[in-house]
Amino acid sequence: MRKESGGNVVLIGFMGSGKSTMGIRLSYRLRYPVEDTDKLIEAQAGKTISEIFAQEGEEAFRQMETRLLEKLAENQGQRIYSVGGGTPVRAANRPLLKRMGTVVYLRARPETIYERLKADTTRPLLQGEDPEGKIRRLMAEREEAYRAAADVIVDVDDMAAEDIVEKIVSQLAERTEQDEAVSD
Ligand code: S3P
Repeated sequence: MRKESGGNVVLIGFMGSGKSTMGIRLSYRLRYPVEDTDKLIEAQAGKTISEIFAQEGEEAFRQMETRLLEKLAENQGQRIYSVGGGTPVRAANRPLLKRMGTVVYLRARPETIYERLKADTTRPLLQGEDPEGKIRRLMAEREEAYRAAADVIVDVDDMAAEDIVEKIVSQLAERTEQDEAVSD
């Protein structure tokens, strides 16, 4: 069954692709509330993502992520979700993301990500030696999972935030029109 037109939107993409920022902007634009899964996990655990990785390990974090998606997938109503960059990688998460809403992949080039995140200290997976190499390797590893999870792909390089929002909105509208044409 097709999703309702104007339903939830789920933003996926690599770290630094703009999911949280676009989530907030889309929330203003579409007047839907926004939820950020990393923030929900931090609030629930009472620690930052870096602390969770350091104290409990990545696997524990991934389990928290999947448990949260299972809960969110039950929610009805219009919402924007931004999820962590690694979320679509676990195969079990991909159908949950689809159940949560129309999945929009914010796709960026590795150079864009590196420029944005080179001074960042909050992403445990990119700390240490050669962050640029890590970005390239992880992105290449994940590309297939992002594509598999996505209903819509939006390229975000060299674009102003307001233009990205409009691009997302118009791609969602196009999709809704196609869905309506199919069900007519
Ligand atoms: C991760 C991305 C982060 C956060 C965690 C792991 C990843 O979210 O979930 O550090 O595996 O790509 P952002 O994409 O919001 O930075």
